[in-house]
Amino acid sequence: MIFAESSTIIHLQGVTKEYPPDNIVFSNIDLEIEKGEFIFLTGPSGIGKTTLLRLLFCAEQPTSGEIWVDGVALSSLSNSQIPYLRRKIGVIFQDFKLLSDHTVFDNVALSLEVIGLNRRQSRKRVMQVLEGVGLAGKWSNYPLQLSGGEQQRVAIARAVVNRPAIVLADEPTGNLDQERTNEVMMLMEELNARGATVVFATHDDRLYENTHRRVVKLPEGKFEIS
Ligand SMILES: Nc1ncnc2c1ncn2[C@@H]1O[C@H](COP(=O)(O)OP(=O)(O)OP(=O)(O)O)[C@@H](O)[C@H]1O
Ligand SMILES: [Mg+2]
Repeated sequence: MIFAESSTIIHLQGVTKEYPPDNIVFSNIDLEIEKGEFIFLTGPSGIGKTTLLRLLFCAEQPTSGEIWVDGVALSSLSNSQIPYLRRKIGVIFQDFKLLSDHTVFDNVALSLEVIGLNRRQSRKRVMQVLEGVGLAGKWSNYPLQLSGGEQQRVAIARAVVNRPAIVLADEPTGNLDQERTNEVMMLMEELNARGATVVFATHDDRLYENTHRRVVKLPEGKFEIS
């Protein structure tokens, strides 16, 4: 189904995710996210934040219900179409998923290979984004030569280097001290100001207690949210 002229970029309708035999993570979730929105997805550990994000980039399938991303019904995508969906989405993984045998530079540059920038453009873009997360000086290091917080910032750089329309941030400040947390929040705000839709999953209520942004709390019982 296509939403002509719609300002909705992510739409979940009646989405249930169950891990057999008996773990119903959430059921019958309805959620619409507007293009350009910055939304917090919250709730305690184990409630299903990561699972919900994984559904959005087709790392998992819902047990029932439908999800549309940028007008495309995810259930209609073939395996060969999934990479096209993922080009629109930058994911900051909770566990970073950096390649330990690649440098910081290459970890970030790999996301650009698929979009066909030449080497010069690509190098410039990677260094800009590394600068943005305060890691330009460590471009030639390997992930294991970095602190946890630095690795987290590489993961952020990698997620945003190809300027995706949607950024899914899974506890992107989980390992960071207050100062770095503030920097990451500013970075997310900047991305959002440039037009990206940001879905920010966290169980840390300090990050959103004073926000004017929409905060969606995943339900403890199996109720609907909207
Ligand atoms: N691949 C899987 N197989 C079976 N159960 C899973 C799988 N992935 C997640 N779960 C279960 O789904 C539930 C939600 O997990 P999820 O990782 O989405 O929670 P979360 O809200 O992101 O938690 P945290 O704040 O700790 O990151 C948990 O009960 C977890 O055990
Ligand atoms: Mg999680």
